[in-house]
Amino acid sequence: MTDFPKIIAVCGKGGVGKTSISALLTILLSEVKTRKVLAIDADPAVGLSLPLGIEVKKTVDHIRNDLIRSIESGEKSGKEALLNRLDYELFEALEEKDNLAFLAIGRPEGDGCYCQVNSLLREIIQNVAGKFDFVVIDGEAGIEQINRRVMEMVTHLFLVTDSSIKGQNVATIIEKVARNKIRFQKAGVFYNRMQNEEEVKQLLKRNELPVIGWMPENQAIRKYDREGKSFFSFQDSNIMTPLKQAVQGFIHE
Ligand SMILES: Nc1ncnc2c1ncn2[C@@H]1O[C@H](COP(=O)(O)OP(=O)(O)O)[C@@H](O)[C@H]1O
Ligand SMILES: [Mg+2]
Repeated sequence: MTDFPKIIAVCGKGGVGKTSISALLTILLSEVKTRKVLAIDADPAVGLSLPLGIEVKKTVDHIRNDLIRSIESGEKSGKEALLNRLDYELFEALEEKDNLAFLAIGRPEGDGCYCQVNSLLREIIQNVAGKFDFVVIDGEAGIEQINRRVMEMVTHLFLVTDSSIKGQNVATIIEKVARNKIRFQKAGVFYNRMQNEEEVKQLLKRNELPVIGWMPENQAIRKYDREGKSFFSFQDSNIMTPLKQAVQGFIHE
């Protein structure tokens, strides 16, 4: 299981900490400068750019609009021309900071549905993942993107939950749906915002999924999020410890 790229989808119920954990994971993986890491904010509610300190200029939704415009204006079409155009659009949309690249799905304007941007995102992941060693996808809450196979290429399903039954149920359902819909290699649950080890022990009693690890409730994360600050200053702090273990035990193996 040493194949690259490793494509990690961070999924779970809304508000459990997917974006915070995606950011920390991305920062950790990109510490090794020879690795190429792509972080994707796949949540139309957007947010991953802030803890990564990245300014988003162009999103998958913008790419889609540009592609439609170029077809409408009679630009050379045909599959090859379209793929070239998509390559160019992607090159423009990927925000790069050394060995870290970033892409956001964006929020479709008007009352358009998300399914078209979602399927474009799936195409994009298929096209670009191979250029990276690690891809971290901050997923939309719930099961829709698994169900619609946006996560088709995912190798590692990183299911985040808080202590609520609701959070754990969503993690369990996502894993079940994923088994029918995508060909992931590994799935596991990660407990976030834990009060103490005792709470983790209680939660483990009713858990049926492999366990990646757990992370305590942390005031610094709350504060940085409240202020919209980058999480890069957590790089050498003990906040990273549970994620370092997750990388060693779950992602690298
Ligand atoms: N370990 C943690 N300790 C304290 N607060 C956290 C922790 N993880 C997440 N949060 C806070 O919980 C809220 C939701 O987190 P977020 O990462 O945006 O969740 P999601 O992306 O799943 O909706 C944010 O205010 C964030 O600061
Ligand atoms: Mg989020």
